[in-house]
Amino acid sequence: MKTLLPLIVAVVIAPFLASPAIADDSDPEKIIKYRQDFMQAVKNHNNSIKAIVNGAVPFNNHLDMHLASLEKLFGEVNSLFPEGSDFGETKAKPAVWDNPQKFSETVQKSQQALTEFKQVVDSGDMNKARSAFKNFGRSSCGSCHKSFKEKD
Ligand code: HEC
Repeated sequence: MKTLLPLIVAVVIAPFLASPAIADDSDPEKIIKYRQDFMQAVKNHNNSIKAIVNGAVPFNNHLDMHLASLEKLFGEVNSLFPEGSDFGETKAKPAVWDNPQKFSETVQKSQQALTEFKQVVDSGDMNKARSAFKNFGRSSCGSCHKSFKEKD
């Protein structure tokens, strides 16, 4: 045990001591890149859902998976915009940091819109799901981008 103790300190305790420094040193450009990759994941799940509800592809059994993924991704949107990641190659508007209250309300509205869309999908009526998908896009992606993302 005596000989193991330094090892335990090095492996178990040291990472905890070191982690705040790592967080402070994190490169804003890497956070921005991560955020944009994250949004691409959101887009890809969204496009997959669109193709399924429009009947373009026969993968109805994938709908739950894409919806659950989108739900999880939306649950982390708020954490993607730490202080200091507001300059550089970002399309995020300064309003994200100037008006954090409105931003988190917008995230909540997006989550609500997703819940409502999911309920329509769960009802099994694909015609309704198709129009509900459009509403979902407008009141989540569209509404947030309008206030918080620069146009391409
Ligand atoms: C609550 C706000 C919010 C919601 C909801 C949201 N986005 Fe975004 N999105 C942003 C912001 C802000 C950026 C800009 C990020 C940056 O450049 O740092 C962005 C960027 C993007 C990008 C560009 C990523 C890149 O490679 O530069 C895509 C694509 C995207 N969003 C798709 C979507 C889709 C599709 C949805 C809906 C299913 C959605 N977003 C929902 C805020 C949001």
